[in-house]
Amino acid sequence: MNRPDTLIGQLGRRLARRAGVAPKIAIVLGSGFKSLGESVAKTFSVTYSRLPGFAKPSVPGHEGTLICGHLAGVPIWVLSGRAHFYEGHSMDTITRPIRVLAAAGVTTLLLTNAAGGIRKGFSPGHFMRITDHINLMGTHPLRGSQHQPAPPFVDLTQAYDSALGDALDQAARTARVHWHQGVYLAVSGPSYETPAEIQAFKRLGADAVGMSTVPEVIVARQLRVRVAAVSCISNAAAGLGKGQVSHQEVLETGRRAGAEATRLITEFVRRVRLG
Ligand code: HPA
Repeated sequence: MNRPDTLIGQLGRRLARRAGVAPKIAIVLGSGFKSLGESVAKTFSVTYSRLPGFAKPSVPGHEGTLICGHLAGVPIWVLSGRAHFYEGHSMDTITRPIRVLAAAGVTTLLLTNAAGGIRKGFSPGHFMRITDHINLMGTHPLRGSQHQPAPPFVDLTQAYDSALGDALDQAARTARVHWHQGVYLAVSGPSYETPAEIQAFKRLGADAVGMSTVPEVIVARQLRVRVAAVSCISNAAAGLGKGQVSHQEVLETGRRAGAEATRLITEFVRRVRLG
């Protein structure tokens, strides 16, 4: 094993011992989902600044804490906040937490984010099950990767696990949230898009646009971790709404959608069959 993988393995195993909870399932909380962290019956938590190799998110609303405990009686680890590519971190750095989770024993991963709605009828406060993605970040988390397992030609035909997706659909019905399925298109940011870009993305088949998640999905699939993902639609994408797109609006929608997001994820965790 190469040195980065050795360090990642050691950190994962050390955290698993320290947490006292063997995690099969982990959740990454993006904007709009942070309040879920408060529902976890916590056994242990640690900020990213104390975890070697974890970048501390610098953007307001993206604090970084690993929370270990139980949700709906299910052992769970929650990564509250993520570092983004647009902050200047490498792809390797932003996906390191996924490698640590896998080393700790995580086999099922739910990724969450905020996204701009492109498809007609996708309004702020709605949620979207990500069924597939388009990577327009301009780079790839496995480019030049020295991590195991090699080779890096990961199959993404079914990147998003259909059984987990079905569990999300059921959870959405029980939680009574506005629910859609669709394709998430990832850009690098940090600016929001132009209206012309959004029209182009629409023609490409995108239903929502955001600046995260896709690198994590790819690395999780390299590690054979099952993936589900949900977007909280935080705003109409550029040119589709009344005004401009702002980070303030993204954060405000996230705060308003917090209770629904918590219900949705709690119902999902209840339904998940852990492999
Ligand atoms: N574009 C890109 N990323 C986003 C958006 C958006 O409109 N909303 C939230 N994240």
